[in-house]
This record gives sequence, structure tokens and C-alpha cells, in this order.
Amino acid sequence: MTQWKKIEQQASEMISAATLRKSMLQKVCSLLQQTVPHYDWVGIYTMDPEQRRLKLLCFEGLPTEHTSIPYGKGICGQVAESGEALFVDDVRLEDNYISCNVLVRSEVVYPIFSGDRLVAQLDIDSNKSGPFGPEDRKLIGRICEQIGEKWPLAGF
Ligand code: SME
Repeated sequence: MTQWKKIEQQASEMISAATLRKSMLQKVCSLLQQTVPHYDWVGIYTMDPEQRRLKLLCFEGLPTEHTSIPYGKGICGQVAESGEALFVDDVRLEDNYISCNVLVRSEVVYPIFSGDRLVAQLDIDSNKSGPFGPEDRKLIGRICEQIGEKWPLAGF
């Protein structure tokens, strides 16, 4: 079994066995950050449609001061408005980008849908430029789909 397949399987078991949403999401962030060498920071932002802000729910990696981001601002804010994933190979070329850490070179923000409702985003920062390939896309897409299916779980 490839390393990618192994990580996908571990995440999938974690998600399907979960009874509490936040602790499951924290475990998934830790798994990804610890097993994929180019994932330096992995976090989950949830949507707050009333305030039109993203709220940082959990993460693994260095702490960030960006725990609340307005819709439209940064890569996360753009995905909040479009509902479409963004893979950014070089964050230095982006105009609408919020820097969490000067070491970050690239970023993925992937939407999580519960049914047709955008409920959260998986955000991954990498200190390498352009590290994301087809295996990353497959793994991230699969994990976000499964998290979305389990979203109705109770809170913490
Ligand atoms: N870089 C993000 C902000 C979140 S941090 O990466 C943790 C953005 O531009 O939206």
C-alpha cells in the first residue's frame, strides 16, 4: 500500500469512528500535518454566515493570529465566497493573501460541504513552493468529502 493510500485509510477510519466533531477534526489535522512532510500547518475554519467570517476551530502547527477572517479576504475568504477549492503554488504572487507566517510558500484551501451547505474549510500551508500534485488533490478531496458527510455529529 502506498503512503498516500495508508494516510487516506487512517483518516477514513478516524472520521467514520468519530462521535464528536471537534475532536475528530483535530485528529485529522494532526494526522495530515504529521504524516505528509510538506504539510507544515493544517487547520479547519468553520463558516459563520451571520457575521460573514471564518472562525478557526482547530489546527496543528505554529499558532496563528488569524483566528477570524472576513469573507472575501485572503485565500480562505475567497473560498468562503466561491465554494471552490484554491491551490496556490506561490503565495508571494497573490494579491489577496493573508500571511500567517513568513516561511509559508504555498497553500491549499478546500471547501467542506454538508449536503449543499458550505460549512467549513480545510486549510493547508506548506513551506515549499508548488508541492501539491494529483495525490494531494485526491487525498484532500476525499477527506473533505468524508468530513462533510459526518458534519451533523454533535459539537465537541
Ligand atoms: N493564508 C490564509 C490565512 C490563514 S493562515 O494560512 C493560517 C489566507 O490567505 O486566507
